[in-house]
Amino acid sequence: MPVRISPSILSADFANLERDLGRIADADLVHVDVMDGHFVPNLTIGLPVVQRLREVSPVPLDLHLMVDDADRWAPVYAETGAFSVTFSAEAAADPVATARAIRSNGARASIALKPGTDLEPYLQTLDAFDMILVMTVEPGFGGQSFMPETMPKLRRAREAVTASGLDVWLEVDGGISLDTIGTAVSNGADTIVAGSAVYGGEPAQRIAELRAAAATVA
Ligand code: DX5
Ligand code: ZN
Repeated sequence: MPVRISPSILSADFANLERDLGRIADADLVHVDVMDGHFVPNLTIGLPVVQRLREVSPVPLDLHLMVDDADRWAPVYAETGAFSVTFSAEAAADPVATARAIRSNGARASIALKPGTDLEPYLQTLDAFDMILVMTVEPGFGGQSFMPETMPKLRRAREAVTASGLDVWLEVDGGISLDTIGTAVSNGADTIVAGSAVYGGEPAQRIAELRAAAATVA
C-alpha cells in the first residue's frame, strides 16, 4: 500500500495558510502542529485557527497536539471535525480514556511518543489507538535532523501491529526528507509527516518526489 503524505504547515507561511493549504491539495492529509509553549518550548496555533483550517482545507486534518493536559484538550480538538487527533503520551494521565473520548467525538485517535519514550506500555492497549506517531525528532520545532535511533521503536511497533491484525497506522514526524523517507518506510512507517521538505520547495513537486522515493521501498 502506498504511504500517506501529511505535509506539516509549521513550515508554511502563517500569514497565508489558506493559500498554502491549496498548494498541498495532492497530499493525503495536512499535519497541523498545535504547541502550547509548555509541553514544548514553542507556541503555534490553537482552537480558533484549527477550526478555520478545517473549514478551508482541501484535505483532512491530521492534528498533532503538543500540549499539556491532553486528557482535557484532545477531545475538544476532535470536535473540530479533524480527521485524526494525535496527543502526546507524556502529557496524558489516561491515554486509553482520552483515545476513547477522541473517537466518540468523531476523530481517529492517535498517540505520539517522544524519542525517549518507551513503546511497550502502549502495546498492551493497541486496540485503543488508530495510529501511533513515532517522533523522529524532539518535538517543538521544524527543520531538525532525523534521529535514526528511533527506528528500532518503529520496527517494534510494526511487528506488534502486524501480529495484532489491527489496522493501526504508524506515522513518523521530524526530519523526513528524500534522504530519510526510505529508512522510515523500510522500518514500518505508512504515514509520513514532512514540513521543511515540502514547503522548502514547490510543494506539489516535493510531495510527488517523496511519494516516488517511498515507492522504491514500500
Ligand atoms: C515538530 C513537529 C513537526 C515539524 C516537522 O515538533 O511535530 O511536525 O513540523 O518538521 P520537519 O519535517 O521540517 O522536520
Ligand atoms: Zn508534528
